[in-house]
Amino acid sequence: MTTQDRLARWNAGSREAFVAALGHLFEHSPWVAEAAFEGRPFRDPEHLHAQLCAAMRGAGHARQRALILAHPDLAGRLGRAAALTAESAREQASAGLDEMAQDEAAELARLNRTYRERFGFPFILCARLNHRDAILAALRVRLESSPEQEHETALAEIEKIAWLRLQDLLKG
Ligand code: GUN
Repeated sequence: MTTQDRLARWNAGSREAFVAALGHLFEHSPWVAEAAFEGRPFRDPEHLHAQLCAAMRGAGHARQRALILAHPDLAGRLGRAAALTAESAREQASAGLDEMAQDEAAELARLNRTYRERFGFPFILCARLNHRDAILAALRVRLESSPEQEHETALAEIEKIAWLRLQDLLKG
């Protein structure tokens, strides 16, 4: 099926079908797709993504925070793989996180803990756009940010994650 066919189907279909197809683009948060449905008709993937992001941005701070909290830590071992969504497991593997040396994985776990203690939510970076060294470097830099800045950066990274998941969905 072509991208235009898929868009046409979502534009003509029910809200339930739309949420069933796109609900996973935002981790454990189908409410984003639910709200974005109001933005039909979707002209192209960019427009659809923009509507999804607008739905996320239009939600209150508490809902946005719950969305951020729904993300797993980027872990050096996929030991808790059973608890990850299929998308998350793939994203983490693509960053080389499942092949980390033990000391590197321990350092990542320590930094994640420090980050959570400081900001009260997990460190979010689009794993598919960053290999493990870049993830560790970004974590160290972002520990110096303000809570407001980190909330904003997390949302911006979630938008990138959703864009790549949407690409996957459109590829079929
Ligand atoms: N947590 C931090 N980064 C990511 C990511 O790219 N994907 C998922 N699923 N969870 C994350």
